[in-house]
Amino acid sequence: MTREPLLQITWTDPVTGRRGYVVIDSLVRGIASGGLRLREGCTLEEVRGLARGMARKEALVYNPVDRYVPLGGAKGGIDINPHDPQAHVVLKRFLTAVLPVVREQWNTGEDFGLRQEVIDAIVGELGLPTTIEPAFAAVDDPDAARKRLADAFAVVVDGIPLGDLVGGYGVAEAALAVAEREGIEAKGATAVVQGFGSIGGAVARYLERAGVRVVAVADRDGLLSDPGGLDIEALLAARDGLGVVDRAKVNAEHGDRDAWLDIEADLLVPAAMSYVISGADADRIKARIVVEGANMPTLPEAEAALTARGIPVVPDFLANVMTNAWWWWVVFGDIEPTAADSFRKISETMRRLVTFVGDDAARDGSTLRAAALALAERNAAAIANRFGS
Ligand SMILES: NC(=O)c1ccc[n+]([C@@H]2O[C@H](COP(=O)([O-])OP(=O)(O)OC[C@H]3O[C@@H](n4cnc5c(N)ncnc54)[C@H](O)[C@@H]3O)[C@@H](O)[C@H]2O)c1
Repeated sequence: MTREPLLQITWTDPVTGRRGYVVIDSLVRGIASGGLRLREGCTLEEVRGLARGMARKEALVYNPVDRYVPLGGAKGGIDINPHDPQAHVVLKRFLTAVLPVVREQWNTGEDFGLRQEVIDAIVGELGLPTTIEPAFAAVDDPDAARKRLADAFAVVVDGIPLGDLVGGYGVAEAALAVAEREGIEAKGATAVVQGFGSIGGAVARYLERAGVRVVAVADRDGLLSDPGGLDIEALLAARDGLGVVDRAKVNAEHGDRDAWLDIEADLLVPAAMSYVISGADADRIKARIVVEGANMPTLPEAEAALTARGIPVVPDFLANVMTNAWWWWVVFGDIEPTAADSFRKISETMRRLVTFVGDDAARDGSTLRAAALALAERNAAAIANRFGS
């Protein structure tokens, strides 16, 4: 796919000079989906890549029997550190400037460095009930859909809102399904997770619950490790709103956050930033499977080197697709707004996709990424045929 995105906006904050971006890669029935991230150094190129990834995620989970009609792909990003004291006001000025796109086309939500309750509060102040108004306009019974979504977001599972768990639960399911195919049993397997926010925290929780020993976790402030397996629930309880663990409250060895790649483990799960595994890093990796919890963590030369060593990389648009899909299953009414129904649908869908993509890759001698991409492209063509843009 070499085509250009349908729309790209570069915004410059009149007060600080910070840049913000919105990219709409594709539209289905006039609407698209993709979160908004806050990251120092975020670029238009990055947001373009992420928007393309969203188009793939939307297409990948397409199941003609679902009520959920996939959307196009979009993404937003602001070049600012989420901890910057100016971040909130810059975010508000950005959303004010791009509000017509948010209202009409771009269904958005939390991503790296931004919590859903923060973006909800700001769009509320700007007069929008939610960050997904274009999607509500596309369903048969918007009031019922709004209620389902509100109910789903009110669910808390062992101290963590369901909305902050579904994405990481999907990543854990992807990891476990691929591990099974590789002959690795969950019980007794080990994992390292970079990032301990929405995705990383939930991956760690559900890997641990499946019997995997999570031996190291990296957050913004460093590496926490324990060869016997970290107490993930204790770490989750000591985490702040941006996924940073209060060291005073946990027992673990402390290390440099960049040492996460050197720890020996079966599963390596980057679940923080993009571009964190370069070609030069690939040799350091001792894992048997890399599972992309984050978007675009592995650079192509690194993936090529890992593939040559027989280490599969589960691509981002497969592994972390479930936050997006879950929102739409709830909105379109494919699932009840409960934890049990959410986890059931995620697990079923992820296992189906991993089987499909894994079988295709094995048959063609290709990577999981190539097989998943081919499936997404086939689905995108079927969606365009059925629903148009
Ligand atoms: N939240 C979702 O549902 C979702 C869905 C799909 C993809 N993603 C992708 O997953 C990634 C993580 O998103 P999130 O929502 O969990 O973010 P988050 O803001 O909740 O968490 C980010 C985590 O990364 C840590 N971190 C920051 N700098 C770090 C560094 N230098 N080294 C190690 N850790 C560092 C933070 O401490 C935090 O634990 C992003 O790439 C995002 O695009 C998120």
